[in-house]
Amino acid sequence: MDIKKNIDSIRNDFPILSTSVNGNKLVYLDNAATSQTPNCVIDSISDYYKNLNSNIHRGVHFLSQKATEIYEETRFKFKKHLNANSTKEIIFTSGTTHSINLVANGFNNSLKAGDEIIVSSLEHHSNIVPWQMLCEKTGATMKVIPMNQEGELNLNAYEDMLSKKTKIVFVNHVSNALGTVNPIKFIIDRAHSFSAKVLIDGAQAIPHFKVDVNDLNADFYVFSAHKFCGPTGVGILYAKQSILEDFPPYQGGGEMIDEVTFEKTTYADLPNKFEPGTPNIAGVIASGIALDYINGIGLDNIKKYEDELLSYATQKLKTINNLKIYGTSQNKTSVISFNIGDIHAYDIGSIIDNLGIAVRTGHHCAQPIMDYYNIPGTIRVSFCFYNNFDEIDKLVNALNRAVKMLS
Ligand code: ALA
Repeated sequence: MDIKKNIDSIRNDFPILSTSVNGNKLVYLDNAATSQTPNCVIDSISDYYKNLNSNIHRGVHFLSQKATEIYEETRFKFKKHLNANSTKEIIFTSGTTHSINLVANGFNNSLKAGDEIIVSSLEHHSNIVPWQMLCEKTGATMKVIPMNQEGELNLNAYEDMLSKKTKIVFVNHVSNALGTVNPIKFIIDRAHSFSAKVLIDGAQAIPHFKVDVNDLNADFYVFSAHKFCGPTGVGILYAKQSILEDFPPYQGGGEMIDEVTFEKTTYADLPNKFEPGTPNIAGVIASGIALDYINGIGLDNIKKYEDELLSYATQKLKTINNLKIYGTSQNKTSVISFNIGDIHAYDIGSIIDNLGIAVRTGHHCAQPIMDYYNIPGTIRVSFCFYNNFDEIDKLVNALNRAVKMLS
């Protein structure tokens, strides 16, 4: 699909884009925080509760069987989309943070003092804190891949820190704060040559381009539905089957068991072993509809169009005096982080919010990046395929007005 030609009809799929904020038409540029929801996803949630509501994997009755069938078909959609080997490798969670904690828990018993884990300096707090907690529990130590001024990882330093002691490497595919796309295939290959496992946080990648976990040879790949037009509260964890089979369960409960007695419990086969309790059934099914929706537009088309938005916005923003962009890698998704002179990001964010423009300000849950640049935070604009060039013009006009008011 040619997004430029169809942009009006795409925008019509998203009811929130026709709403107003503070008397102005909404310009939503906070897509890295959460993307907006098309009618087909909203309808899917409503249809579920109107026509299908029941519990899955538990009932002989019609509704339960039908809901189970659609829930499992959704698992298959994600398996196919990621090119995973089996639906046993797809676990539904409540989000990326939940998935990362589940994986960290899996290493509780195998990691020990003297082992090392490597994270990158571009990580979101959710890909730092669980590993720090794991280090505290096990006595393992954490090493950090340094970054440069462009917001790229120093791969020579990474190669130097790998050793037989390295057990796990954690890197995001795309930095949520800067938009840098990390060379994860290289990172995974190098880690594997030391038999270390690799977790990739793909929360900011999946909405923007095609990902093939088999080609990447990732051990774990995690992301959330609400970043690609799905609902909040659904995460997808891909992990190699052999690893998940060896992992202990993360939480105990119903449906993750084979047999329970007071003496001993045996666990269910994959993927159920990691999905105790009643899941977010409506949310998971709606996430599959969101996946269909973005695939209907085409991820190659999305990438091409968002690259154009990124390039146009970067050029326009550079016309503003004293505007400094953080994250200038050639390999970026549609995220621009910046400050204007020494004006506080929050002040600008508040003024442009009054004009109906939604951006994120602050440290973006990536304080180490802000520390590296020695700033408290940035203004971050992040685009989705439903944004248009007119909205970028509105952003730049609003920023100019804000600067005038604050200078
Ligand atoms: N991780 C989300 C963001 O970058 C919330 O805004």
